Amino acid sequence: MHYIQIAIDGPAGAGKSTIAKKIAKKLGILYIDTGAMYRALTYKVVKLKVDINNIEKINEIAKETNIEFRNGIIFLDGIDVSLEIRSQEVTKLVSFVAQIPEVRVILVELQKKVANNNHVVMDGRDIGSNVLPNADVKVFLTASVSERAKRRYLEMLEKNSDLTLAVEDIEKDIKLRDKMDSEREASPLIKAKDAIVLDTTLFTIDQVVEEILNILSKKNIIDYLTDTCII
Ligand code: CDP
Ligand code: CDP
Repeated sequence: MHYIQIAIDGPAGAGKSTIAKKIAKKLGILYIDTGAMYRALTYKVVKLKVDINNIEKINEIAKETNIEFRNGIIFLDGIDVSLEIRSQEVTKLVSFVAQIPEVRVILVELQKKVANNNHVVMDGRDIGSNVLPNADVKVFLTASVSERAKRRYLEMLEKNSDLTLAVEDIEKDIKLRDKMDSEREASPLIKAKDAIVLDTTLFTIDQVVEEILNILSKKNIIDYLTDTCII
């Protein structure tokens, strides 16, 4: 059986996870948020008070850590850490952990394994270029940095009305992470050669979802999933 692989990459705040989740739900297939996996490992490193420069120790932790998704919820060593992985501290440190080559080998292997046994929509930074190079469809979502910072700010404000961060702080964090993610040696944030670029600056979530569904339809992916009784 051929498993459908849909890769969605792009910088922070481009709308990847919101849109990937909606597409997966529409198609009735798995959604894998690879950023959440790097965040979960970073959360463990923070909790254990390990120095972010102690690469040897972080590698050791990565080897003995169990990260899995159950019904779309991320579990770290058997515990739901959905909320904890979104903290400011984890957000600040995640790109340091994600640039360690051995960490990437472990998490990429896990991601490939899931995609080899399920139809998936997977989002991240290196999915089309490295994790799923033969994906059926590759989308590279982007938007201006000020729009991405504004979106993230509004999202955080909605969850926490006492938010002390200003939109400028978020823009600074996003720029720094984008730079680190793009410049690292091990599988950087990059547009795969065969990815379709969608600049979402002026588009709503629903418009982007619609556009991607059109692309999937033209590639007969929706028909294929219908024929295999998924939808
Ligand atoms: O949601 P947001 O854009 O803030 O980030 P995320 O998707 O949760 O990813 C958090 C961080 O994990 C990114 O800034 C990258 O450093 C790292 N990451 C990665 O290196 N490779 C991936 N495939 C996904 C995330
Ligand atoms: O996963 P990524 O970091 O790329 O972005 P996200 O977490 O999916 O989206 C960040 C925020 O922007 C969320 O609150 C989305 O609802 C919002 N968003 C939007 O307002 N318009 C879009 N076209 C895409 C996302």
